[in-house]
Amino acid sequence: MTQNTDNTTIERKHSHVEICLHNDIAFSGKNTGFERYQFEHDALPEIAFAEIDLSSTFLGKKTGAPLMISSMTGGYSEASALNRALAEAAERFMLPLGVGSMRQALENASYRESFSVVRKYAPSIPIFANIGAPEVAKGLSRAEIDIMLDLLNADGLIVHLNPAQELFQPEGNTDFRRVLDQIAWITSVIPVPVIAKEVGCGISRQTAHRLVEAGVKVIDVAGAGGISWQKVEEVRYTRQFGQDRRFSLKALEELLNWGIPTAECLVAVNELKTEVRGTHDFEIVASGGISTGSDIAKSLALGAQIAASAGALLKALHAGKLEETIEIWLNDLRAVMFLCGAATTEQLRNTKLLFKH
Ligand SMILES: Cc1cc2nc3c(=O)[nH]c(=O)nc-3n(C[C@H](O)[C@H](O)[C@H](O)COP(=O)(O)O)c2cc1C
Repeated sequence: MTQNTDNTTIERKHSHVEICLHNDIAFSGKNTGFERYQFEHDALPEIAFAEIDLSSTFLGKKTGAPLMISSMTGGYSEASALNRALAEAAERFMLPLGVGSMRQALENASYRESFSVVRKYAPSIPIFANIGAPEVAKGLSRAEIDIMLDLLNADGLIVHLNPAQELFQPEGNTDFRRVLDQIAWITSVIPVPVIAKEVGCGISRQTAHRLVEAGVKVIDVAGAGGISWQKVEEVRYTRQFGQDRRFSLKALEELLNWGIPTAECLVAVNELKTEVRGTHDFEIVASGGISTGSDIAKSLALGAQIAASAGALLKALHAGKLEETIEIWLNDLRAVMFLCGAATTEQLRNTKLLFKH
């Protein structure tokens, strides 16, 4: 790989964090959809708030709570400190953690430590490697996959599917041919599960079906309602080239806010999960705009095994309040469970949610 490619990848990962912290990159006119649901109140819970058990499982491993820290960063010098802080919090609360795209670790050995630091500070939680669909489409070698898994002693590999992000990215790669075949090959050769995730546009029932038939074991819906990655890349594009004249103004507005709201994805993918039970079993991660413990609770009741967050936790980390924020979310979750009479996360998954029209 050339030095130029390295520099572009480093600049991109660095500016992603900076833009997510300082720019308005939320969806306009579109929410997660969780606001359209409410739990049925239980006036007779018959459980003790203090005894509520938040522990859960993810891919057969026990976790402290049904919350995961979503893939964010790695591959440049400042990423080590970010990943270390995320790992320490994840270890403290026993939460699974995904690292950011490991493309840089494959292009250049210099910043591999910014990924391996995660396993150093989080020795006992599930950790997931991460690579993008365009790299998968080009064809990864088994040796490249092993580099990513070995750096983290990873419990699985996340493949992020991000066509809208690549479309808006100034240096984006929009050749998605052969992605599904390559995913199927990866699921057949690696010893750990493959997770397919979006980055904020959501995964539909049909797409999830194709992925689980290819051997994917987890669908992380990463729906709309949190960060719009089209908007993040649009900020980078306009910094480089000025006003965006690639699209008509009306279409631009629609494309920047493109995506299926998180709660809609969950309902659709959960229907699929029930339909394929026994032939293509898989777990669901709810992400895209998770920002309270109530969102986590609703995610579980809509079929998720676990919820996951990136943007909101990055902001909390930047404000020096990562662990405090996680504690507050878990307390929100306990409160909702108490008012539904659910003493365990398994009971919460079987709790009734009402749809508000
Ligand atoms: C700074 C930052 C960098 C990200 N980089 C990656 C990445 O490398 N790979 C990936 O799969 N997702 C990446 N994401 C996307 C998140 O994992 C997540 O899918 C998305 O932001 C939607 O969730 P949210 O609304 O909770 O932020 C990144 C998110 C943030 C905030």
